[in-house]
Amino acid sequence: MRRTTLGNGSPQVSALGLGCMGMSAHYGPRPPQAQSIRTIHRALELGIDLIDTSASYGAGHNEELVAKAIHDRRDRVFLCTKFGIRRDLGPMRIDSSPNWARQSCDESLQRLGVDHIDLFYLHRRDPQIPIEDTMGAMADLVATGKVRHLGLSEVNAQTLRRAHAVYPLTALQTEYSLLSREVETEILPTCRELGITLVAYSPIGRALLSGQINTDTAFGDDDLRSSNPRFGDGNRVANLALVDRLRALADEMGVMPAQLALAWLIARETVPIPGTTYVRHIEANAAAAAIELTSEQIRDIEELIPADAAAGERLSAAAARWIGK
Ligand code: ATR
Repeated sequence: MRRTTLGNGSPQVSALGLGCMGMSAHYGPRPPQAQSIRTIHRALELGIDLIDTSASYGAGHNEELVAKAIHDRRDRVFLCTKFGIRRDLGPMRIDSSPNWARQSCDESLQRLGVDHIDLFYLHRRDPQIPIEDTMGAMADLVATGKVRHLGLSEVNAQTLRRAHAVYPLTALQTEYSLLSREVETEILPTCRELGITLVAYSPIGRALLSGQINTDTAFGDDDLRSSNPRFGDGNRVANLALVDRLRALADEMGVMPAQLALAWLIARETVPIPGTTYVRHIEANAAAAAIELTSEQIRDIEELIPADAAAGERLSAAAARWIGK
């Protein structure tokens, strides 16, 4: 597995990670626990050490699941979790207060069964709380040894700069894929300037870019794609036409469309964290790290799917509420 550096010089991690959210929430019924654990184990065997979870996924369920998978192999994992989306008080709410940073970190350590978290992210920001206050509390967690590195998620460039001035950030986790390119204008250049790695979530466009979604694919109420505009009727047809173009190039190259989508993100010097619940999919995704695209191939991909080509917003109105703060 190809390795890469996060942030300004350390640490070293696999060129892509494993997103665990779908093992607990937001992508339909939970898969059997044994299947999820097998998927995490296979990722580690393949050299993928960057494992991504959050306190919010399944309200703690996902961290407990990851704990079961890694308890006997903790030293092989670069463990990433997040705080700030609370589900312990009924409906979801955002809490980026210093107190919640401390309490949520302790709860995550306990659920994960570990003595430190390798990368601790603020998942979403409440703009009423100065980012300097949140970062101060997060930096204290580093000082006490509970956390090794810090990150933010889905903030704007100004927040990123303010936060980085308090304590050097290692990563910004945000949505980035061939179908979601907004970050290219300001966020990605700011990350490069500051030496912060962009960790790309939904790198396969929530499965759209795998080529395995069609006009008949149905999503239940427990699947966020049932309310995501990209999957709405008219938009889905338009987006599938883009995926067909990617598939044609992938076929020519003898790879899968999902692999091409991931290889492109790696070529853009980001670290994708595709989510999957299947061994066969983590095997396919891991193989994407070995694809080295030529500058000509990168140009071809970007011509086939131009930056603003996707139809529909990337998030539902409800999910977009806390983005870019
Ligand atoms: P997110 O970051 O939100 O998890 P993503 O990584 O873009 O989004 O896409 C995740 C979706 O792609 C999941 O529905 C996952 O389903 P499985 O659990 O069935 O794998 C799907 N997915 C991931 N890798 C895939 C692959 N190689 N082929 C097909 N589908 C894949």
